[in-house]
Amino acid sequence: TKVTYVQPDGSRDVIEVAPGVTVMQAAVSNSVDGIVAECGGSAMCATCHVFVDPASTHLVPPIADVEVEMIESAASERKETSRLSCQLVMSGDIDEFVVHIPSHQV
Ligand code: FES
Repeated sequence: TKVTYVQPDGSRDVIEVAPGVTVMQAAVSNSVDGIVAECGGSAMCATCHVFVDPASTHLVPPIADVEVEMIESAASERKETSRLSCQLVMSGDIDEFVVHIPSHQV
């Protein structure tokens, strides 16, 4: 999957992500700004919070309750498109996926 990370200033990192790898893991291994992932992917920190591009939303399962709770309590800005990137697993069926990094995380 070609994952595009759009920074608040409009700059982009485009990373080829293998099936089974999360949007968070790929960001951390490629040092994408704004995705810290303090809890290591357990949906416990919200430092991997992203906004999924509307064009990509249908490619992943809907948000889980645990994500909603974590984003509400820990992320400073929540939108309709908010997700924890550690819960977004890429697969061979997804060609492209686009996420936006919240400005307060950078
Ligand atoms: Fe902590 Fe995603 S890495 S919630």
